[in-house]
Amino acid sequence: MTAPFSFRLLANDGMARRGEIVTPHGRVATPAFMPVGTQATVKAMYPGQVRELGADVVLGNTYHLMLRPGAERIARLGGLHTFMNWPHTILTDSGGFQVMSLAQLRKLTEEGVTFQSHIDGSRHVMTPERSVEIQQLLGSDIQMQLDECIALPAPREDVERAMRLSLRWAERSRAQFETMGGPGRGQALYGIVQGGDVPDLRIASAQALGEMPFEGYSVGGLAVGEPQDVMLAMLDVTTPAMPVDKPRYLMGVGTPEDILESVARGIDQFDCVMPTRAGRHGLAYTRYGKVNLKNARHADDPRPLDEASDCPAARDYSRAYLHHLVKAGEGLAAMLLTWTNLAYYQTLMREMRAAIEEGRFEDFRAKTREDWA
Ligand code: GUN
Repeated sequence: MTAPFSFRLLANDGMARRGEIVTPHGRVATPAFMPVGTQATVKAMYPGQVRELGADVVLGNTYHLMLRPGAERIARLGGLHTFMNWPHTILTDSGGFQVMSLAQLRKLTEEGVTFQSHIDGSRHVMTPERSVEIQQLLGSDIQMQLDECIALPAPREDVERAMRLSLRWAERSRAQFETMGGPGRGQALYGIVQGGDVPDLRIASAQALGEMPFEGYSVGGLAVGEPQDVMLAMLDVTTPAMPVDKPRYLMGVGTPEDILESVARGIDQFDCVMPTRAGRHGLAYTRYGKVNLKNARHADDPRPLDEASDCPAARDYSRAYLHHLVKAGEGLAAMLLTWTNLAYYQTLMREMRAAIEEGRFEDFRAKTREDWA
């Protein structure tokens, strides 16, 4: 038996937590930002570069990988770590969220979701059991239950129905994970809190999941169209209802500000396409805030994005050159800006971890917000 998945809390500062997750593929310092590698690649980055920036874990997507190149194929080729040359921790999402946002002709029943691939129209069935099976074939270290994430705004009864269905799918996902020997391999399965923007449903979901033996707990169904203050208000009621001794993962969030404010509310893990996607669209995140390099005001600006950064992309290239690359649609624009953005996200996480350890998170939060403004 491999050493079991573990989570240790190393320090608290207010609600903010500093911790460490151990998986069969290494240690994950928390709070952690997990770059998104949907198609077994963090777009426009080499795996070694992602690692060098300080990422301990990347995210892969069940939905995309089952459709192309196929989970059984990845398993035959030695699993996702080998396939993508990322020997560190991998977390996978379960597919439900992506089916709902990408697939065609979806039909949701108690059993699962049937859908047509957005790539070739082929028909597929996703159940809680199949989702865990695929995540096992990929060899993911941290797996997610299948859930239903409902778009907001939505009537309370719809939010409650999706939340209760997700709880039943949590039980089935857990049973499959145990049957397939996940815990014996040191892997983790996280339950996902749902409940939309309804506080009592969020609390009921968090409490019911907390009674099931998951290695960690995610908060889903946020950043799906609601304003930021609603999202933060949901965290205010949800994290106190979640187990203290297990990692908490806020799915699909967010901007640097969302992340800072969510760490302040007790979240330990994040993933978001924001830094990578924005990088491919000419947007840079720096400690001075967001810079849109498409803007003509950068055309004659010889200054780098951040002369004090230790990221070469942010330090060694002028805004004028980056503007030119973006306007010319050059591949190097995406590479340099993705690099800049992931470097900034990882720096922010590193600085938050140090601030929590040293009991100065509140000062750090205020100072960082000031620098962005
Ligand atoms: N990614 C962002 N939000 C969600 C969610 O609610 N569920 C799942 N499975 N993935 C997500």
